Amino acid sequence: MTDLFALGLGVGTQNSKGEWLEVFFPQPLLNPAPAVAKAVADALGYEAGNQAIALDSAKLDALASALEAAGSAEQAAIVKSFQGSKRPLVAALLAEDAAPSSVPEGYLKLHLISHRLVKPHGTVLDGLFGTLPNVAWTNQGAVDLAELPGRQLQARLNGELLDVDCVDKFPKMTNYVVPAGVRIAHTARVRLGAYIGEGTTIMHEGFVNFNAGTEGPGMIEGRISAGVFVGKGSDLGGGCSTMGTLSGGGNIIISVGDECLLGANAGIGIPLGDRCTVEAGLYITAGTKVAVLDDKGELVESVKARDLAGKSDLLFRRNSVNGAVECKTNKSAIALNEELHANN
Ligand SMILES: CC(C)(COP(=O)(O)OP(=O)(O)OC[C@H]1O[C@@H](n2cnc3c(N)ncnc32)[C@H](O)[C@@H]1OP(=O)(O)O)[C@@H](O)C(=O)NCCC(=O)NCCS
Repeated sequence: MTDLFALGLGVGTQNSKGEWLEVFFPQPLLNPAPAVAKAVADALGYEAGNQAIALDSAKLDALASALEAAGSAEQAAIVKSFQGSKRPLVAALLAEDAAPSSVPEGYLKLHLISHRLVKPHGTVLDGLFGTLPNVAWTNQGAVDLAELPGRQLQARLNGELLDVDCVDKFPKMTNYVVPAGVRIAHTARVRLGAYIGEGTTIMHEGFVNFNAGTEGPGMIEGRISAGVFVGKGSDLGGGCSTMGTLSGGGNIIISVGDECLLGANAGIGIPLGDRCTVEAGLYITAGTKVAVLDDKGELVESVKARDLAGKSDLLFRRNSVNGAVECKTNKSAIALNEELHANN
C-alpha cells in the first residue's frame, strides 16, 4: 500500500518552453485511500517523494484501468475524460506536506484549501511566491508574460481581442472551484487558495487572499489578508481591514473569532476572540494604547492592544470626545442578519 499526503490529476497550461503556468485539479484528494494511491503509483511508475508526472495517452489508459480496479470510479472517470485533451495533463503525487517545489504541487495545495480539504495554515506553503509564475489571466486562459505581446498581436490579426483580466501569481478561485453554499458578488476578489466556508457571503468590497478565509456562515465586506481566518457568524463591515503578515504587518497571525463585528472601515492588527466588536473607522494596531473601562466607564488600566489579543467579549471604540481608544465589555454581540443569509 502507498501512503500519500495528497494526490491530484489535473489539466493545465504551459508556456512555449513547456513550463507550467497553472494547473486545474477537478477533484484533488487529501490522504487518498492507500489502494488508490498505490494504483496511481504503480500505473505511473512513481516510487517516492513529491512529484509531478506528465500524463500521455498510454499512461491515461493504464491509470484509468488501475483506478477502476482499485474501486475509484470517480477518479477513473476523470482520467477517461482526459483522453483527447488539447492541454497538457499531469498527476501530482505528494508523499509529504513540504514546501511546494513545482507549479503543479503549489496549485494542488491551493486547491486543497479552496476545496475545504485543509484549513488555512493547514498545509505548508513556504516559498510559494517564488514557485508560482506571474501570469496574464485572459479570456484565452493563462498566458506567459513574455509571450503576451505576441498573443495580443495574433488575436488582433484574427479580428479578436485578448482580454487580460489580471496579471497575478494567483488566479481567481471560482475558475477552479465554487464551494457549496456561498455567494461571491465579485469573483475576481477571491484568490485560489482561499477557504470560503459554507454560508459565507462576500460582497463586492470583500476580498479573500490565499491561505485565508472564513469558517462560515459570515458576511464579508472587508479584506481578509493572507493568513487570516474568520470564525463562524462574524461580520466584516464595508472596507474594513485585517492586517496580513506578508508586508510589514509583523508576525502575529491575525484571526477573528466567532460572532465578531468589524465595523465599516475598521481594522485590526491583533487577533480577536469571540463576540468582539470594533467600532466603525477604528484601526487597532498591536501597539495601540487602549484604556480598559469597567461597566461604569471608569478606567481600570491602560494596556497595549496586543495584551488583549485573542480575548473574547470586547468592544473597541475611539472616544469621540477625547480621542482615546477604549475597550469595554461587549454587551451587544451581533447576530448575523438572518434575512441576508436565508438564501445561501
Ligand atoms: C461601536 C458601536 C458598535 C457602538 O454601538 P452601540 O453599542 O449601539 O452604542 P450606541 O451607539 O448605542 O452608544 C451608546 C452610548 O455610547 C456613546 N458612544 C458611542 N460611540 C461612542 C464613541 N466613539 N465615543 C464616545 N461615546 C460613544 C453614545 O453616544 C451613547 O451614549 P449615551 O448612553 O449617552 O446615549 C457602533 O458605533 C459601531 O461602530 N458599529 C459598527 C457598525 C458597522 O460598521 N457595521 C458594518 C456596516 S457595513
